[in-house]
Amino acid sequence: MPQPYEKYLQEILIDADTLQARIAELGRKISADYADYNSLLLICVLKGGVMFLTDLMRNISIPHEIDFMALSSYGKGARDSSGMVRVDMDLTADVAGKHVLIVEDIIDSGHTLSFLMRMLSARSPASLKLCTLLNKASRRVTPIQIDYMGFEIEDKFVFGYGLDLDEKFRNLPFIGVVKPESV
Ligand code: IMP
Ligand code: MG
Repeated sequence: MPQPYEKYLQEILIDADTLQARIAELGRKISADYADYNSLLLICVLKGGVMFLTDLMRNISIPHEIDFMALSSYGKGARDSSGMVRVDMDLTADVAGKHVLIVEDIIDSGHTLSFLMRMLSARSPASLKLCTLLNKASRRVTPIQIDYMGFEIEDKFVFGYGLDLDEKFRNLPFIGVVKPESV
């Protein structure tokens, strides 16, 4: 029996073992970089960042806190964000004086992250850095400084491992490329 996702899958871009190996490296690097700090707050951007957050935190060996934030772009089409970002759910934690690391699934135009960085820096964190699993540099409209990155990918629409295809298939353990004619 074919799996429901198979008709949308052109190819597996990053398999589960490759994802997990890279996330373990990122976790070790973050643990070392923040070892001498007195705080680390991971902020997961919902919903896409959730798989990455849970695997990343299992690979971070220093004490840390987590919090969640949900953002959406106004009038966002299937592919292009309009640049107008709205907060659907704000943090419960106070970021003032804390070392904050944003955990994102993918940076595309950069609109979402540029908005979030501006919003959080206004709340006086001790530091503010960005960790993204995927980066589509060729699609960038707004410049973004990335501190930790999993993989640079081509300009293809991808799904799985937190990223959705019409809100589904976030549970897949790999990153797949969407078959263009299937959507
Ligand atoms: P940006 O504001 O254009 O950088 O868009 C970032 C958001 O768009 C990400 O957090 C994702 O939710 C979504 N997105 C961008 N590219 C993809 C993709 O290839 N697959 C699934 N979602 C994507
Ligand atoms: Mg996202």
